[in-house]
Amino acid sequence: MRIGQYQLKNRILLAPMAGITDQPFRKLCAHYGAGLTFSEMMSTNPQVWHTEKSQLRLAHHQDAGINAVQIAGADPQEMAQAAQVNVEYGAQLIDINMGCPAKKVNKKLAGSALLQFPHLVREILGSVVNAVNVPVTLKIRTGWDRQHRNCVEIAQIAEQSGIQAISIHGRTRECLFEGEAEYDNIKAVKQAISIPVIANGDITSVQKAKFVLDYTGADAIMIGRGALGNPWIFQGIAGLIEQNQCVEEPNLEEKCGVILRHIEDLHQFYGAEKGYRIARKHVGWYLQGILPNSNFKQTFNAITSAEQQLSALKDFFNFIRYGNSNV
Ligand SMILES: Cc1cc2nc3c(=O)[nH]c(=O)nc-3n(C[C@H](O)[C@H](O)[C@H](O)COP(=O)(O)O)c2cc1C
Repeated sequence: MRIGQYQLKNRILLAPMAGITDQPFRKLCAHYGAGLTFSEMMSTNPQVWHTEKSQLRLAHHQDAGINAVQIAGADPQEMAQAAQVNVEYGAQLIDINMGCPAKKVNKKLAGSALLQFPHLVREILGSVVNAVNVPVTLKIRTGWDRQHRNCVEIAQIAEQSGIQAISIHGRTRECLFEGEAEYDNIKAVKQAISIPVIANGDITSVQKAKFVLDYTGADAIMIGRGALGNPWIFQGIAGLIEQNQCVEEPNLEEKCGVILRHIEDLHQFYGAEKGYRIARKHVGWYLQGILPNSNFKQTFNAITSAEQQLSALKDFFNFIRYGNSNV
């Protein structure tokens, strides 16, 4: 699968997730085979770029493969400027967010709210594509609400505007995250345009990944929540889809080592003070996969220092590796 000048190593992508797909998590998912990862969305409002949150999101590193940065906004000129600034900071691909359902974002007519205004979509896409010399991609939902599933129209506008790939979450804004993602509209988009189409929504297993690719005919799939506490999902899916091989999950030994390194990375990236708070949710997700009924989550969440978190995790992992799950 190609996006502009980039040949991706496979067709399994990590979805952008605000508050989650920071540099440490992207690096981990890339290590386990994600063919492309996206940053958390950056606001295009320059007035917030000095905040710690934006500074960390602007901190682009090369070690997660192609450096794809997502921007969210509504003003065509501001979006173009934000794209340029991100490219100066090292972004190698710009993704435009027109899928976010958050009220805070939609109130400013950004994210999925834009799907209601195809003219503005065209203006924004043209403005960003003309502003940068890296590929620009677009992420959308199937429409604003169930009565207005206009993803085919938006995808055609995207193709005409020079967008190089489009990812579609199989829900409308009205659906939020409820019910099940549907793939018929993604299939319809694939049939209507020639640029790569990336199918997204509720892909949480190797079997589902294969089903979605076959059913929609999409060029690639994108995984969000299925990767939480489960970054190794990419290697299983890539094994089957790309090599027709069944790749086992890492064993407990490897998982424990990976989790410790991930938590250390988070402490380092955010600093000890903020890092231990960010680490809690990731450990919660890891525990769901490793030992879902353990009380250790409560113990871990009560810890208020990075150092103690690591030492508690090491003790816990030693305990479960000796076969006692009564933790
Ligand atoms: C916590 C969270 C944060 C998200 N943040 C973003 C975001 O910043 N940009 C975006 O385009 N989509 C965002 N999404 C949507 C995901 O990229 C994805 O489209 C959605 O979760 C459906 O895919 P999934 O079923 O594989 O999770 C977010 C989703 C979640 C759960």
